[in-house]
Amino acid sequence: ELAQIGVTGLAVMGSNIARNFARNGHTVALHNRSIAKTDALLAEHGSEGKFIRTETIEEFVAALQKPRRVLIMVKAGDPTDAVIEELAGAMEEGDIIIDGGNALYTDTIRREASLKQRGLLFVGAGISGGEEGALNGPSIMPGGPVDSYKALGPLLESIAAQVDGTPCCTHIGPDGSGHFVKMVHNGIEYADMQLIGEAYNLFRDALDYTPQQVADVFTEWNAGDLESYLVEITAEVLKQVDAKTGQPLVDVIVDAAEQKGTGRWTVKAALDLGVPVTGIAEAVFARALSGSRSQRKAAVGLASGTLAAKPSDAEQFTHDISRALYASKIVAYAQGFDQIAAGSAEYDWNLHPGDLATIWRGGCIIRARFLNRIKDAYDDNADLPSLILAPYFRDAIEDAIDSWRRVVITAASLGIPVPAFASSLAYYDALRAERLPAALTQGQRDFFGAHTYERIDSEGKFHTLWSGDRSEIQA
Ligand code: 6PG
Repeated sequence: ELAQIGVTGLAVMGSNIARNFARNGHTVALHNRSIAKTDALLAEHGSEGKFIRTETIEEFVAALQKPRRVLIMVKAGDPTDAVIEELAGAMEEGDIIIDGGNALYTDTIRREASLKQRGLLFVGAGISGGEEGALNGPSIMPGGPVDSYKALGPLLESIAAQVDGTPCCTHIGPDGSGHFVKMVHNGIEYADMQLIGEAYNLFRDALDYTPQQVADVFTEWNAGDLESYLVEITAEVLKQVDAKTGQPLVDVIVDAAEQKGTGRWTVKAALDLGVPVTGIAEAVFARALSGSRSQRKAAVGLASGTLAAKPSDAEQFTHDISRALYASKIVAYAQGFDQIAAGSAEYDWNLHPGDLATIWRGGCIIRARFLNRIKDAYDDNADLPSLILAPYFRDAIEDAIDSWRRVVITAASLGIPVPAFASSLAYYDALRAERLPAALTQGQRDFFGAHTYERIDSEGKFHTLWSGDRSEIQA
């Protein structure tokens, strides 16, 4: 019997996805550069379904039904190109290559174009959910030619997470769009994690809570509108006690956050598109700052000022933090969806934000009750200018605004860094401002560089003769 799908690259993510396919009744051809990994997978989990063991790429390709479908689960970058090249050499017109790694979307655009010329269908698929999701149901974001989805969709949908009977997988759009939206998903993931980190930090430093006490708050929050995978696992991490020292584990982990690059890509792409993803950028920079260990060590003990005003009512402040978190989260998602809209326009992808909210409701790292609200918002109005303007979110922020401000004020007075809370609030205030100081910026640019400005009362571009008689001319 031939396999419906082949998986090459059998590290944890690859093996778990292969097992997921097999557990759902598909025959799966397995391939890995070193056969030891394939054999280890078969020895441990071979009984979970139908697998075909292959050693060479030729054998692997020969084990597949046509059109052949191969999922590549190797490291992004050069290793992916190498595997694609090998596969393409052995495959035939109409076959499908799927890259399930965290590829940079511009690489996916390039690969799709070059494989199309060789008659192959290339699908860049974002896959989220970590190891557990890969095994039990990830959120899948496949891009690429529509035809590829006809042959691939049912297969992918069968292994994806399901929410209310809807699979967390849909065709995203052409070429690099699947990896683009996965990248933005990761940017939002960074923002979400940073916001949770700031909330945690306030409990520790403003309310002197123990990690266990903070865990209890997060557990409670997970039963309300903040319900989400990241809030849930936050409680788990905070509860963990270190076996070696008896201390809370979080207190013995080095406080320098690492990153593999997808958050940075999101911000770089946003800069090029001109989209202010301030929450995501703060999160990426906060990780970078945490990693500047020698600078931080040298700076410990710098003045903190004398304003320190600790919150007097822990219950009220806990509520305030929850609302700051919720409102800032709305901002982060609003910015992420703005970036998706901008990417869609730039690359002519015709992306549907409501579809993304739908497939992010389950399986992925940012899954949250909140995504249902985002889906509803786009169902009501597919052309929403900003998520913040959807009635539900507008009301939620109105409800949160005083709390949000109190949190930022308290944090600033105590010298507790809340870059994402503060910057999201500033974004919100800038967005709703009737006038911004950008008028002054334009004046300055015109002063030193004759860069011109527009007027509020007439069409066209204008320039003031700053070094002459300071009269205005039409440019
Ligand atoms: C997911 C995650 C995953 C990502 C890790 C690590 O959606 O399953 O986003 O794809 O690789 O979260 O990311 P960092 O190492 O950059 O934190």
